[in-house]
Amino acid sequence: MGSYSYMALGEEIDRDAYVVCKYRVTTDLPMEKAAEAIAAEQSTGTWTGISTLNDEVFRNYAAKVTAIDGDMVTIAFPEADFSIKVGAVPQILSVISGNLYGLSALKGVRLEDVEFPKGILKQYKGPKFGDAGLREILHRPEKPLVGTIVKPKIGLSPKDTAKYIYEAGSGGLTNGKDDETLVDQAFCPIEDRTKAVAEALDRLREEGHYMVHAINISTNGQDVRELAEDAQKWGASQLMIDVLTCGYGAIQAVAEDPKIKVPIHVHRTMHAAMTKDPTNGISMRVIAKLVRMCGGDALHIGTLGVGKMEGAITEGKQNQLACQSDDVPYKKVMPVCSGGMYPGIVPAVIKAAGTNNLQIQAGGGVAGHPEGVRAGAMAMCQAVDSAFEGVDIEKYAETHHELKLALDRWGTK
Ligand code: 3PG
Repeated sequence: MGSYSYMALGEEIDRDAYVVCKYRVTTDLPMEKAAEAIAAEQSTGTWTGISTLNDEVFRNYAAKVTAIDGDMVTIAFPEADFSIKVGAVPQILSVISGNLYGLSALKGVRLEDVEFPKGILKQYKGPKFGDAGLREILHRPEKPLVGTIVKPKIGLSPKDTAKYIYEAGSGGLTNGKDDETLVDQAFCPIEDRTKAVAEALDRLREEGHYMVHAINISTNGQDVRELAEDAQKWGASQLMIDVLTCGYGAIQAVAEDPKIKVPIHVHRTMHAAMTKDPTNGISMRVIAKLVRMCGGDALHIGTLGVGKMEGAITEGKQNQLACQSDDVPYKKVMPVCSGGMYPGIVPAVIKAAGTNNLQIQAGGGVAGHPEGVRAGAMAMCQAVDSAFEGVDIEKYAETHHELKLALDRWGTK
């Protein structure tokens, strides 16, 4: 039984032949040993030498530890380790983000980044619409998109949901969406809700305002495509999928369904179970790259260091880049900042994210406005306009009553 080393420190790796991953590793062992344990477990090795591993198998399929920089370990997996026709993201994740979390050699391990070779990237189609497609639908070539999440999260009837959306659109918002916990409860059946919201959006369009609303179709794998097609038939202008509870395959199945002609909004509920611990789990940047490959058109990326969701600005910028970078052969994903957004926070978000390619979405920050949803929507739009025009928000509020009331209630950041 030969003994094999997975160490290849400093070796030049052909980026077109390997999947290259960066892991942050916490261990009591020497870092080389811990890194080698990952490369072995996730490719051709196991806890002991095995008689079935030979030189040829090792040469073709073994992962290599190519760099160790402090606690950051780079491991390259041969492209041949990945499925060709079936398997897709579930199989990719089993390799790059699978058993390794349970290895006793590691106290913690976090998949920080992944880069795929062209051969794997071309197996995926990416977004059908992307950020530019969304802007075209909304007749809004520039400025951040401004949206709302219907609040309360649960409990409103289809009629009240539609009323909320009509009010939000009348106040100028471009995007509405269901919340992540709403799908098809008895108080708000998905068919009735979709039809009622579609009527509200039609009314807004007749009045000259373009708005889309993402209907949450998160469900079992065997049903998601049919539900997407049904929702579209009922009038859905956008579909929403909770990627981590449904799986990446749900996005890919819907995005690659030729019958689906509306964009997909991707919510990341449950992500913090994987992303929150800086020493263990999976970074949001990796999740964003996979969502883009699978065809999400808009994705929640966090709130760039502000808002109710945790996450540093640098991390938010990395997530934004994963949605918008030019190094993959796909359309760009619209990054969505959501979670604790309100008018006074908008300048800080736009300062961190830039003025254009962003969707800012507020639930409580719209529905909690002292004068109701329409005024809340107006205040959000005024906040975005002030930041886009480079005018101080307090100054802008002097001539915009709705914004003034919002600042009085929640202040600025
Ligand atoms: C989301 O879907 O991101 C949250 O429900 C946002 O709600 P909030 O704006 O009230 O925090």
